[in-house]
Amino acid sequence: MSLDANPCTGARLESRADGALSGDIFVPGDKSMSHRALILGAMAAGETWIGGLLEAKDVLHTAAAVRQFGADVDRAAHGSWRVRGREWKSPRQPIECGNSGTAARLLMGAAAGFPLKARFVGDRSLSSRPMERVLKPLREMGVEAEGETLPVEVRGGKLRGISFTNPKASAQVKSAVLLAGLRSEGEVQVTEPAASRDHTENMLRVFGCDVERENGTVRLGPKRELTGRSIEIPGDPSSAAFPLVAALLVPGSEVTVRSVLVNPLRTGLFATLAEMGAELRTENQRITGFEPVADMTARFSQLKGVEVPASRAPSMIDEYPILAVAAACASGRSVMHGLDELRVKESDRLAAVIAGLQACGVEAWQEGDTLIVEGRGGPPPGGGDIRAQDDHRIAMSFLVLGLAARKQVAVDSADMIGTSFPGFVELMRSMGASIK
Ligand code: S3P
Repeated sequence: MSLDANPCTGARLESRADGALSGDIFVPGDKSMSHRALILGAMAAGETWIGGLLEAKDVLHTAAAVRQFGADVDRAAHGSWRVRGREWKSPRQPIECGNSGTAARLLMGAAAGFPLKARFVGDRSLSSRPMERVLKPLREMGVEAEGETLPVEVRGGKLRGISFTNPKASAQVKSAVLLAGLRSEGEVQVTEPAASRDHTENMLRVFGCDVERENGTVRLGPKRELTGRSIEIPGDPSSAAFPLVAALLVPGSEVTVRSVLVNPLRTGLFATLAEMGAELRTENQRITGFEPVADMTARFSQLKGVEVPASRAPSMIDEYPILAVAAACASGRSVMHGLDELRVKESDRLAAVIAGLQACGVEAWQEGDTLIVEGRGGPPPGGGDIRAQDDHRIAMSFLVLGLAARKQVAVDSADMIGTSFPGFVELMRSMGASIK
C-alpha cells in the first residue's frame, strides 16, 4: 500500500453546528498497537498475521521501514497484513518516519540490536522533537548514535544490558530500551515514575517473551526470542475520543463506538469526562486477543469543570486537546496539571490549544505546566481560524469544537488527520456532522 493511499481531506476544513449527531460506528485500529505489531512481527521467527491494522500514514511509515530492514510485509486485505520476520540488515535508503515519533523511537530501539547502520529522517515537526531521550539509554547499551534530533544515524550491534531509570513516564522510551534489550546480554530493566502504556510488554508476552512488572519496574526475563503470532488490533481510544466528545457537546446527540481498546493505561480521558458529569457508558467489556475492549456510548451532557491531577497525564497524554474542547463547553473552570510533555508532541500542544481556544472566544491560559480553561457553560462563540500547526489532534479537536460552537470554526492543514485517523471527516459526516 502506498503512503498516498489515504483519502486526502484537503488542506482547509470548516465545521459548524447543524443538529444532533447519531451513529453506531467503528474507529480505525489502535496506532500504538499497530506500530508494535509490525515491529515485533518483523523481529519474530515465522509468520505474523495482523488484523485491524491502522492504515494511516504514521503506521505505513513503520511498515515501509521494517520492509527496508529486510522483513517481508504484505497487505492481504484492508487492515489484514502478513509479516515474516528476518535478521535485520542495513537499509539502502534512510528510514523515513514522516510525522511519527513512535515510529522513529521504537524503530531505533529495535534496530539497535542488529549489526547494521541506519539513518532516520522525518518531516519538519518530527525533526524538531527530542530524540536524545531514547539515544541516551541506547548509547549506554553500546549503540553508536549521532544527532540529538533527526536526522540521526544509528549503528547497532552487540549490546549490554541496562538498568534504566527514566525521570518521566514515556512508553516510547521504555519500548525502545525493551526492544533493544531483546538482543542484548544481561539484565534489562526500565523504571518509570508512573506507568506508561504497556502495549509493548503485553505484545512481547504474546510473541513468547518473558516480561515482568514489579512496582514501577519492567524487566525482560531470559526468554527473549519472538515467535510469529496472530494479533487482532481493536479500535483506537485516542481516535474514539473525537466522535464521543462531539456527541457529549452537541445537544440531542447519541453515538456508540464499538470495539474500543480500554486498557486502563489509555482511558484517563474517559475517567475525566465521567467526573465532568458525562453520560458515557462502557458496555460489553471483553478481551480481544490480549487487551480489554468495550463498546462506548456517549449522550449529550451538560458538563462541569474538572481538576485533572498530573498523575493522570500518562493515561491520557494525547487527549488533552479534545479534553480542553470539552472543558470550553463545560460550566466552570477546568484545571489540568502536569502537561510539560505536551510541548514536545507533534506541535507545542499547550500553546496550540490555548491559541485555538482564544481564537474561538474561550479564555484559556497556562501557569507553568498547568492548563486552565474557563468553560462557557454551553456553546462557545467559535468563529476562529485555527492554525493546526501540522498536528492531526489539534485539527480534529477544533473541528469538534466547531460542531458545538455558535459560529463555524476553520482549520488549516487538516490533511495531517491522515497520519492517525483516515476517514475521520467521512465518519463524522456519517453521524450528521457538518464539516466541509
Ligand atoms: C506512544 C506514547 C506516547 C504518545 C504517543 C504514542 C506510544 O508518547 O504520546 O502518541 O505508542 O508509545 P510518549 O511515550 O513520548 O509519552
